[in-house]
Amino acid sequence: MTDPERQNIESSLHETRVFPPRPAAELGMSHWVVDGREDYREQHRRAIEDPERFWGAVASELDWFEPFSRVLDWKAPDAKWFDGGVTNVCHNALDRQIAAGHGDEVALIWEGEPTPGGQPEVLRFTYRELHAEVCRFARALDALGVKKGDVVTIYMGMVPELAIAVLACARIGAPHSVIFGGFSAQAIVDRVQDASSQVIVTCDGSWRRGGVVPLKANVDQACATLEAKGHPVRDVVVVRRVGNDVDWHAGRDKEWSDLVADQAPDRAPEPMAAEDMLFLLYTSGSTGKPKGIVHTTGGYMVWTYFTARATFNLLPDEGQVYWCTADIGWITGHSYILYGLLPNRVPTIMYEGAPNAPDEGRFWEIIERHKVTHFYTAPTAIRAFMKWGDKHVTGKDLSSLKVLGTVGEPINPEAWAWYHRVIGRERCPIVDTWWQTETGGHMLTPLPGVTATKPGSCTTPMIGVDAAIVDAGTFREVEPGGGGLLVIRRPWPGMLRGIHGDRQRFVDTYWHNDRGYYVAGDGARQDEDGFFWIMGRVDDVINVSGHRIGTMEVESALVGHPAVVEAAVVGMPHEIKGTGIAAFCTLEPHWAAKFDADPKAVTDALRAHVAKEIGPFAKPDALRFADGLPKTRSGKIMRRLLRDVAAGIDGHQDTTTLEDRGVLENLRACQVY
Ligand code: WTA
Repeated sequence: MTDPERQNIESSLHETRVFPPRPAAELGMSHWVVDGREDYREQHRRAIEDPERFWGAVASELDWFEPFSRVLDWKAPDAKWFDGGVTNVCHNALDRQIAAGHGDEVALIWEGEPTPGGQPEVLRFTYRELHAEVCRFARALDALGVKKGDVVTIYMGMVPELAIAVLACARIGAPHSVIFGGFSAQAIVDRVQDASSQVIVTCDGSWRRGGVVPLKANVDQACATLEAKGHPVRDVVVVRRVGNDVDWHAGRDKEWSDLVADQAPDRAPEPMAAEDMLFLLYTSGSTGKPKGIVHTTGGYMVWTYFTARATFNLLPDEGQVYWCTADIGWITGHSYILYGLLPNRVPTIMYEGAPNAPDEGRFWEIIERHKVTHFYTAPTAIRAFMKWGDKHVTGKDLSSLKVLGTVGEPINPEAWAWYHRVIGRERCPIVDTWWQTETGGHMLTPLPGVTATKPGSCTTPMIGVDAAIVDAGTFREVEPGGGGLLVIRRPWPGMLRGIHGDRQRFVDTYWHNDRGYYVAGDGARQDEDGFFWIMGRVDDVINVSGHRIGTMEVESALVGHPAVVEAAVVGMPHEIKGTGIAAFCTLEPHWAAKFDADPKAVTDALRAHVAKEIGPFAKPDALRFADGLPKTRSGKIMRRLLRDVAAGIDGHQDTTTLEDRGVLENLRACQVY
């Protein structure tokens, strides 16, 4: 557990307010999808006792080209859901709506990054229009020779073509691997190589607060490295978005606009077996190497469809407009901008820009303009808005809002209360959704209309989720109130099916117990009402501004710089980010001399290096330099001591195994950069 999480749990422990659910009519909705406590209990019971019948019925609400013959085939850690079934997720997102007569309803609303002084750029796609664009690009991928099972890498800004590319991949059965546009060239290299991907879809650049992120240049650099490693990339498809100059590699590089120009606006959805891979999404773990989480077609489709509707109370014919502020490069964007929303027939907004450009009122303007009913964001954004002040919100018409959501990290009760009061105007239920890249969709969350909420708690399990807190040694359930490991005791449709190319890591990371429990990697406790309170990661993963980062990734980036001999990275409390990145380094003597002469030059160089190796979002917030790091006699770095130093506290921890106490004193005394 990192310190902000400790603090969070501290303040949560003093949090006693309870907000009961209110009637749907008060918020102008005809009903709650899950209609009260009894309905929830009953559905939950049925889903746990007879998952086959329950999930079979949910799955049957969607289209299957061939019906499944068996709902669940489970032998831990391997699940097959909807075996024998053949379907296509893109078909269920688009064709199914058109066939039911909804083709002219709005499916996707895109709002561009504001151009200085210009009008907001807005595009609306109906199901029919989105279908046509998706089919054109699907045919373009066909023309490039992309076949079912070939991994297509997508590295783009938040432009409509990103959604189109993702859905086109799903349509032709080519698993996509989306890389967040904030990652660097090196991150692309690792992911493309691990996935043996031959095709990259990108943009010339993306807008970020009026500046340009050079996406194509990053891809070029990655391709050069990949080529040198004997892994040439065959095709790079480029969307023109910002009009920056880009190098052009004839033969390899193709204009998106050329590729789709003459394509017919239809392309049959590829029949996909339920367990065919839908996508890979790389995420951070306890080692320096990101892992490619595998999600498959049937289970993920059913899980995102079901959870989106239940958690947000999605009702297609009631004028709802849903906005999730995540980037599609993360799982939240996959599941709750695209895959969970389109099959539920509620328009979904995609926003290209930042929350504070051109000013801090941007989000609230978007809500006002589109009459947003559902708003889903991260605690870090909420804390930033709190800091910027209520003045950016007052005067904005937020009366369309009905349900608010948060995700990505524990929300501190103060931020929850602000969200409730200032944004929700004390009317809107807040759903604090706990889940992970690996779980595909929501696992612990309040359901509006069902769950009384307590600020800081993600409350109770999603229907069908068998969550428990167990002792880390015995895997026995702990007494109520006690902390332990958060586990899921039974399979659920949206669960990951593996780590791409690394069976052993999959087993070791998530299933290191003989009970068949999924081990989430988070610590949690349950209160007297059975509510879950997440205490944070128990491994070397930190959630920085809701972005998941492995401390080892940052360490290996740092030691990759010639200045650094040894590095240790831990989380530290950060007012806005929740958890910030604290790095402790020892310097090579020649660089130590440079550092004495000009510390800023060296710290700037190290931050720039981390940005280059991973991405700007992984730059350390605090750097400290010393002659040594605190180690045990056997040479292990004692990270728990470093966490105290980074937090500026003396946790009175046991230091008896520390080899040299002076080292700790030096670190406490040294300057922070
Ligand atoms: C953390 C993001 C507390 C948690 C969907 C988890 C949360 C990790 C919450 C997964 C929440 C996510 N409350 N912590 N509501 N939501 N987390 O894979 O530590 O990017 O393990 O998925 O984020 O991050 P990931």
